[in-house]
Amino acid sequence: METPISLRTIQITDAEFEQIAAIVYKNYGIHLTEKKRSLVIGRLQSVLRKRGYTSFQQYIEHLSNENDDSMSELVNRISTNHTFFFREYAHFEFMMQTALPEFESYHKKNNSNTLRIWCAASSSGEEPYTLAMHMMEYFGLNYSKWKAGLLATDISEDALRKAMVGVYPEDAIDKIPAEMQRKYFSKKGNLYQVNDTLKQEVMFRKFNLMTEQFPFKKNFDLISCRNVMIYFDRETKEVLVNKLYDQLRPGGYLFIGHSETLNGLNTPFSYVKSAIYQKKK
Ligand SMILES: C[S@@+](CC[C@H](N)C(=O)[O-])C[C@H]1O[C@@H](n2cnc3c(N)ncnc32)[C@H](O)[C@@H]1O
Repeated sequence: METPISLRTIQITDAEFEQIAAIVYKNYGIHLTEKKRSLVIGRLQSVLRKRGYTSFQQYIEHLSNENDDSMSELVNRISTNHTFFFREYAHFEFMMQTALPEFESYHKKNNSNTLRIWCAASSSGEEPYTLAMHMMEYFGLNYSKWKAGLLATDISEDALRKAMVGVYPEDAIDKIPAEMQRKYFSKKGNLYQVNDTLKQEVMFRKFNLMTEQFPFKKNFDLISCRNVMIYFDRETKEVLVNKLYDQLRPGGYLFIGHSETLNGLNTPFSYVKSAIYQKKK
């Protein structure tokens, strides 16, 4: 039996793929190579159907009407939000053993009790909650003496919504040591809810890393921008990394993903160790 027209996969022409790739690159810096063609076709099918379109051309025309919601929907579909708690643990070890002790003495010396950490591609919350748990563990009972907020941003509204709800299945939290699970999560049926004490330490906001002028008034001690630059080309990465440099205080650290590198980019960052860089003191 033949597949009804309404259920057939809507195919994309070379020109249509190039147009969508250009829109995504211009707005979000995400570089869609030819290898991503089937991802684009697959992830956008339901969007086209919902809108009653029978070709990608109709969708592209709709996008070029600069409709904000459509652009959000596009990036929600195209972006890859894969993440997990305690991912690339070497960063959190470094945080506990080196970065936080340094931040503590730096701020004490400067009569400050404000610590600023930015998780710049926070996805559905696993990374910023991991950062916040480590900050709270490090300071222990003294944590309340610090203004130690954590800013967590992402471009995907879907991911941010999940992050703000903070409810995860059991297999998502199984890398978290049992004691920390008990301290920071409550069991709700088969799911685990981030406790308010942890949740209130993380401020989630929508933010596009391609924004020309970053709006942050104060510098950060640490920026974690992990596993997002893999989607950017060299030029986009270089511009972004130098903007991140400007957002750090001297001696502040940048974390990137372990499969990423700043090698070959023109940037003043000093290499500390794999996936960790520092702004000159
Ligand atoms: C693979 S996830 C990485 C999540 C987390 N940092 C980690 O390492 O586990 C990449 C995230 O980058 C976000 N992203 C992609 N382009 C972005 C942009 N232009 N601005 C802000 N976030 C972006 C995606 O929405 C996605 O949530």
